[in-house]
Amino acid sequence: MLRTLVIGSRNTHKVAEIRQILAGLPFHVVSVSEYPDVPDVVEDGATFRDNALKKARETAAAVGQLTLADDSGLEVDALDGRPGVYSARYAGEPSTDSKNNAKLLTELTGVAAEQRTARFRCVMALVDPDGDETTVEGICHGCIGHELKGEHGFGYDPLFVVDGYDSTMAQLGPTVKNRISHRARALQELKNVLNKMAQSS
Ligand code: IMP
Repeated sequence: MLRTLVIGSRNTHKVAEIRQILAGLPFHVVSVSEYPDVPDVVEDGATFRDNALKKARETAAAVGQLTLADDSGLEVDALDGRPGVYSARYAGEPSTDSKNNAKLLTELTGVAAEQRTARFRCVMALVDPDGDETTVEGICHGCIGHELKGEHGFGYDPLFVVDGYDSTMAQLGPTVKNRISHRARALQELKNVLNKMAQSS
């Protein structure tokens, strides 16, 4: 029987991407949304790693299963790395992607194209309820455009022009995104760990 792997996120976009990137691995992948009694984890860590580990540890303890959690965000050089760990609620709560993108464009008003460099960063934490923990990181470099372009993805994708492409992440679509994104790069590293776990279980 396949071992269960719980994705410790209720963000449907993230869950869909993680499922697609991990397709083919010998795990029964489910979202924490399928465990309605598990409370939301408060993301109050100072770093992506702190938050990813907190989400994975608390969820693994609550569901008693191997759990994978993602904490990710956008770092913009001209804003000294902001919004960073505050990417989800950059423009305040209740948060929406459109308010966050509007705030980003406002903060970058007058900043020239060559100074709009940025990166998406993702830290993934894999926590086994028996205590084993692994963290990995993935980065995707790019720059912030001057207007929203593209319909795919979520978050800052319509403003993020990916290095090596003349397109935003939202224009590239899921097949390309799930090959080159910060999330894909982090998960690429975890695949070896997950394959070993599957073999030994
Ligand atoms: P988290 O749930 O605290 O990890 O928040 C992640 C936030 O970072 C999201 O709400 C988005 O605003 C942003 N973000 C993370 N990954 C992506 C991505 O792949 N595309 C666009 N925005 C992202």
